[in-house]
Amino acid sequence: MGDPADLVALSGGHTVGRAHCGFFADRMRRQDDTFSRKLAVNCSLEPNRVQNLDVITPDAFDNAYYMALTNKQGVFTSDMALIKDRTTARIVRRFAQDKAAFFAQFAKSMAKLSQVPRSDRNVGEIRRSCFRTNGQSLVAAGAASA
Ligand code: HEM
Repeated sequence: MGDPADLVALSGGHTVGRAHCGFFADRMRRQDDTFSRKLAVNCSLEPNRVQNLDVITPDAFDNAYYMALTNKQGVFTSDMALIKDRTTARIVRRFAQDKAAFFAQFAKSMAKLSQVPRSDRNVGEIRRSCFRTNGQSLVAAGAASA
């Protein structure tokens, strides 16, 4: 069984990497804080840009993603949800203060994830390409989203 610590720790994967504007369009549409307005301006000036998911240390695997979240600087709605919910916010704040605690939980949660039971043939597959299962042809998946 997953628990809130798994959810918060695994989302910490967003301590590295980037996202295309379309994936956080809902956050930009709301423009309900300074950061979402900034994202909206950046994407309207440059629609093909990629946005750093951890705005503090974009390329380092560290706990700065959580520090950014405590400043309401999460890119996805799913990132922001972690700081809005009381239970997960407590864990976010702990990881923001304690990198070792994040690392320990991340390792534990990744190992747990690897044990998720395979209840049907689409679960447990490591995809060679985003947006389609390994058995699915490019045409069936829609070449534009493959
Ligand atoms: C709440 C669940 C999650 C959601 C909704 C989510 C969503 C996304 C989206 C929409 C992107 C951007 C894709 C793009 O623009 O091309 C992304 C990127 C990324 N995600 Fe997640 N993700 C989730 C969980 C995770 C987990 C569990 C990990 C790893 C432990 C992870 C690691 C990454 C990384 C490293 C990138 C950047 C990829 C790159 O720069 O090429 N994400 N995520």
